[in-house]
Amino acid sequence: MIKIAPSILAANFLHLEKEISKIEKSGADIIHLDVMDGHFVPNLTFGLLIIKQISKVTKLPLDVHLMVTNPQNYFNNLAEIGVNYISFHQETEFHIHKRISELKKLGVKAGIALNPATPVNTIFPVLDELDFVLLMSVNPGFGGQKFLPLVKSKIKELAQIRRKNNLNFEIEIDGGITNNISKEMIELGTDILVAGSYIFKSDNYKDQIDALKKEV
Ligand code: DX5
Ligand code: ZN
Repeated sequence: MIKIAPSILAANFLHLEKEISKIEKSGADIIHLDVMDGHFVPNLTFGLLIIKQISKVTKLPLDVHLMVTNPQNYFNNLAEIGVNYISFHQETEFHIHKRISELKKLGVKAGIALNPATPVNTIFPVLDELDFVLLMSVNPGFGGQKFLPLVKSKIKELAQIRRKNNLNFEIEIDGGITNNISKEMIELGTDILVAGSYIFKSDNYKDQIDALKKEV
């Protein structure tokens, strides 16, 4: 069953609590939190302070996508807040195996995110350690961009390896997701679909989430 993770980057931040309660009631499965540092990506978003406040107003699992250099600086605090998923970018890290071990020790689901142009074979040696892989289907930094079809062959490749080796990491796709592509994403092997603008730029979040979950 596909899980839908609305990215609150596209929400109305002046009414964040209301927005979160709306997506909760609309069938969201996870809340996706995009942390950007203005260094790894050319944009700034929010950090620990906001994530802590969000954790107090929702029961949904929190999924923190770290688009920052030195992601390990935030692992402890995020785990303390009680977030459930943490991913960092392969492109920011020399020591991905070490970082995964640190996350696992903290008891959170450990994930690696890959930019559109980063091949999946860069993480083959650690796939059995991972709880999830986040494949970017846009260049990270901004919501509201157009889906990049090149991610399709990457999903296929990852799903194939997962099957062959009996692994059970989840595949999360992030960027430019709409109801027009969600079905294909699910068929290729996606477990978690992130969607920002498609959900929050509409009047009816439930209709949008239902449309993303529709498999036929
Ligand atoms: C982009 C972020 C995405 C983004 C998705 O850097 O990682 O999570 O918010 O937003 P949409 O669905 O609008 O592409
Ligand atoms: Zn994201």
